[in-house]
Amino acid sequence: MSTSSSTAVEKNFKREFLKIVFVVFGVLLICFSIFFLNHRENNKYIIETLEINGSAKEGDALFKINCVGCHGITARGLVGPDLHSITQRLNDKEIIKQVTGGLTPPMPSFEIDPVNMSNLLKYLHSLE
Ligand code: HEC
Repeated sequence: MSTSSSTAVEKNFKREFLKIVFVVFGVLLICFSIFFLNHRENNKYIIETLEINGSAKEGDALFKINCVGCHGITARGLVGPDLHSITQRLNDKEIIKQVTGGLTPPMPSFEIDPVNMSNLLKYLHSLE
């Protein structure tokens, strides 16, 4: 009698345990797929941007609208750092991440299409 009731408890415990394992596994799977899809989307954006040969003049105009408030009208730095020779310190991929990522507040993340991102890159290269 006592042994049969303990196996019932054991069975119940096993079922609960399996349930938890399944839930944890499911949540992890969802997290991984979101991360993977996000990563692939970002990479697609970067590859697309790097394939375009942007215009420094257009990039200059974009910079004047979006960036001078913090980086200064000649990009010599204000709230944000001087961006001359930035292309020697950061590669294009890192600069794209800096501009679109919002990883270093107070600099905001910019939603910018690949053509304009490429223009901005060309402009930053022209500052060397
Ligand atoms: C609200 C202010 C602000 C605006 C607007 C802004 N930035 Fe920044 N930016 C910063 C600050 C502050 C940093 C330094 C962040 C850090 O490293 O902690 C920075 C860093 C950077 C860096 C990296 C510099 C380095 O030495 O590592 C780049 C590149 C850059 N900004 C480009 C841009 C571009 C291009 C734009 C316009 C599209 C822009 N930023 C707009 C504030 C700003």
